[in-house]
Amino acid sequence: MPDTLTSPARFGSNAGQPLTRRDGIAKVTGAANFAADNSPANLLHAFYVPASIARGRVTHLDVAAAEAHTGVTHVITPQNRPPLQGDPSEKVTMFSFRIEVLQDDTVRYAGQPIAMVLAETLEAATEGARLLNPQYEVEPARTALDQNEPISVPPQGFGTPAGAEHGDVAAGHAAAVQSIDVTYETPAQYHNAMETHAVVAEWDGDKVTLDMPSQALNMSCAGYAYFFGIPAENVTLRSPYLGGGFGSKAFPTGPQVLAILAARLAGRPVKLMLTRQQMFGPVGHRGATSQRLRLGVDVDAALTVLDHEGLAETSTFDDFIEPAANASQGLYAAGALKSVHRAVRLDVGTPGPMRAPGEASGSAALECAMDEMAELAGLDPLEFRLRNYADTEPGTGRPYSSKALRECYEQGAARFGWADRPLEPRQMLDKNGMLTGWGMGTALFPCPMFAADARATLRADGTALVETSAVDMGQGAWTALAQIAADSLGLPMEKLEFHAGHSALPDGGVAGGSGHTATAGGALHAAGSDVIRQLGEVASNDPGSPLHGAGNAGFVARNGRVYVEGDESRSDEIAAIMARAGSLDVVGNGSASRPPEVAAKHAMNSHGAVFAEVKIDPDLYQIRVTRMVGAFAAGRIINPRLTESQLMGGMIWGTSFALHEEAKHDPRTGRIMNANLAGYHVPVNADVTGLEVITVHEDDPYVNALGIKGVGEIGGVGSVGAIANAIWHATGTRVRRFPIRIEDLIRG
Ligand code: MOS
Repeated sequence: MPDTLTSPARFGSNAGQPLTRRDGIAKVTGAANFAADNSPANLLHAFYVPASIARGRVTHLDVAAAEAHTGVTHVITPQNRPPLQGDPSEKVTMFSFRIEVLQDDTVRYAGQPIAMVLAETLEAATEGARLLNPQYEVEPARTALDQNEPISVPPQGFGTPAGAEHGDVAAGHAAAVQSIDVTYETPAQYHNAMETHAVVAEWDGDKVTLDMPSQALNMSCAGYAYFFGIPAENVTLRSPYLGGGFGSKAFPTGPQVLAILAARLAGRPVKLMLTRQQMFGPVGHRGATSQRLRLGVDVDAALTVLDHEGLAETSTFDDFIEPAANASQGLYAAGALKSVHRAVRLDVGTPGPMRAPGEASGSAALECAMDEMAELAGLDPLEFRLRNYADTEPGTGRPYSSKALRECYEQGAARFGWADRPLEPRQMLDKNGMLTGWGMGTALFPCPMFAADARATLRADGTALVETSAVDMGQGAWTALAQIAADSLGLPMEKLEFHAGHSALPDGGVAGGSGHTATAGGALHAAGSDVIRQLGEVASNDPGSPLHGAGNAGFVARNGRVYVEGDESRSDEIAAIMARAGSLDVVGNGSASRPPEVAAKHAMNSHGAVFAEVKIDPDLYQIRVTRMVGAFAAGRIINPRLTESQLMGGMIWGTSFALHEEAKHDPRTGRIMNANLAGYHVPVNADVTGLEVITVHEDDPYVNALGIKGVGEIGGVGSVGAIANAIWHATGTRVRRFPIRIEDLIRG
């Protein structure tokens, strides 16, 4: 494996091109085969009954009625559910949750599966499930943060972040000449990928094939294998296309385990696809938070303290919390920093990571608090942030691997026209009499790497096959990753065949944490480089080659030729080298990860600045986001078109967070009242006009060999605060709960 610190990747002409998606035509023509499009012969359809109470016990199911329905073949309940070999409360992989798989009759949240029906048709399965007509013993449900006592978060692990404290926090509070103490609330939000969770499971002895959308193919195989007591290699997972994942498709889930179990029981393939309503419960969500921020400044408006206490919901049976207070750990240079996390156990499904977990919710509160602090100090919000700019990581003093945030501020502000902003609120009316406001927010997202493997095969005909189980969940990974692979082999895109999305391929790691292009791309680049190294060695040993005797100088490929690294005068044609060597395929293997010692040396983040304009009807208080400019620095950009799409998508998520999304529980039953896309609002095109993305140039020699930081999540991070702050600037009303609604402004 190349040392990611000392061997920066060489790129050719493919990286940097704004290519369209390789999978685009297949998707828009319907040719792309999504998991639930598969219907093997002899298929059974599964439908499960979601609990309609949030806490209590199932006392009766009318199994006889369901079994009597034409087409129904199996009714699976806690009473007859076949055993699982693995413990459902065990967390097998890094991305595992405790799941509910009919292990008992207890209801822990609304939407929990309480029975599964198999039938010859989906209609019969659905009707069979309805006929079960569950009866319950109901206990009062707790679904709001104030309905249970806060507890310390459990021991540190995935989803249970440690707190952090740097400097003397009490002294920081005492030294402040001005201070604020504000609490912001963010609601529960549910991943609503266009494609709901699905699986088609088919057993062959103790081997199973799963057509299932997955953000983490090989890790999921290990997870499912555990529950069924089989080796991971006995699970084949095909996930060529995802209709969105956003974090919720990285984990084995209860409904999917049940469908696989059902297929084993029935001895026939089983298909399960969640309904939209079923997405609200057993497959994760962004948990609600309440965040108290105490900020203080000295006479120069330098932060003496940044004190962020997060309170977040989790379920009664698992531990994941939204790590919101993390957002305050790495951004502003405060004299003292504190971030703490507490949890509240509620009768809800376990929360999980949802696009920009922690940062989205935490930065929403932090960026609004920064705006409030700037207002109190009488400073322009951008000027206030610049006064508290961190040149090294706050608290630790580590250098940044790179940080072009200042350039993001400058370029974003210039494009937006920020300099003309009046300091006071409620100063701007447009020509139609709309209250107009401008706000901004800073964005930060860490750039983690996972581990990935890849294989590259150069064929004698000059084409190449590259392979990794990496997954394109709609973000464009197949295209960006292919660009990286083609460059590593010195080939044009049309010579490249790219196989991905199948667990039998080399483990492409996790499409998550905004780290997929860096990680899977790193592995692909290493695999291609391995091929070129082998070709170079062959040529070096070949008296007929211009590279003869080049030894182990190192080789790079470009335009179908192999060059001595650093000596452009010496090269040979790839086809010629291969022909002389007998025209055999050359196979290269590569892997990528970030060694801990590399990770420890630098703080590594993507950064950005988002500027937003809102217009608000002075009588009706209808809110429109009319303009947003986001400037982001995220290292090397492999594909500008797809990067812009990712960042813009993030900004739309920010709009959604600020103004639209909220799961509302019925306080009587604990059920989510708006578990559908009619009541659970997300922006439509009319809500997101005037978006502009700037990518700020940034070279990062440390983050990984490719210099890639990741763009999947950061776009949403600064956007929430920018919009909320613009609403304050338009109206003079500070709303401290999300989403911000008309009635919040009328009341104000
Ligand atoms: Mo994302 S929440 O890392 O899929």
